[in-house]
Amino acid sequence: MNALLKVALAKGRLLEPTRELFRRIGAPVGVGEDPASRRLVVPSEDGALAFLFVKPADVPVYVGSGAADLGVTGTDVLRETEADVLEPLALGFGSCRMVVASPHDVPFPSLPSGVTPRVATKYPRLTRAFFADTGLGVEVITVAGSVEVAPLLGLAHWIVDLVDTGRTLRENGLVERVKILDVGAVVVVNRASQKLKLELHQKLLAKLQEASRKA
Ligand code: PRP
Repeated sequence: MNALLKVALAKGRLLEPTRELFRRIGAPVGVGEDPASRRLVVPSEDGALAFLFVKPADVPVYVGSGAADLGVTGTDVLRETEADVLEPLALGFGSCRMVVASPHDVPFPSLPSGVTPRVATKYPRLTRAFFADTGLGVEVITVAGSVEVAPLLGLAHWIVDLVDTGRTLRENGLVERVKILDVGAVVVVNRASQKLKLELHQKLLAKLQEASRKA
């Protein structure tokens, strides 16, 4: 791969606004024009960047290890993985919040008769840290997605998950109880790469900053 900078992009809900951002700086992520494409590594039109499409939670892994020079992902997965990366720019899209939620009839912050709450989440580390801070003893159950189904089927009493419009909670009869974290899309950069390719990073970051300010 001869591109000067490798950029890890999060698949899923951040991908479209991220593609729009790179379109605005004149480095469109070409393959996205074809929704049927399954290519996972594509060059920008000028060949200066190579885009890798990975799961959001894997962006900090690729960037932290140096497999990618930089990436775009959400602060939810970034805080969860605690990757040792630079975080030079908040992009102003992908805003949502991480919350504790439960069904209407399942109380929070404690259950009757001293039952230990079971909490289902994709964010076990952040969930444990939050409940450790509040002093509530909970059992954390890690699931990979569709977390809202867990209380409906009795897997968990509460969930910790992201809320954007609130529709998923509403349609599954869940109530937001408390916010844990504000979440948004950010640029993350590998520390060593930033030193070795300083000028390239500075130029790209300046363009991204400018484009995200105008958006
Ligand atoms: C996210 C999140 C919630 C939902 C919130 O899930 O985990 O389920 O979006 O959005 P809303 O408040 O606008 O309804 P996503 O669609 O990314 O899928 P996943 O749960 O399978 O990860």
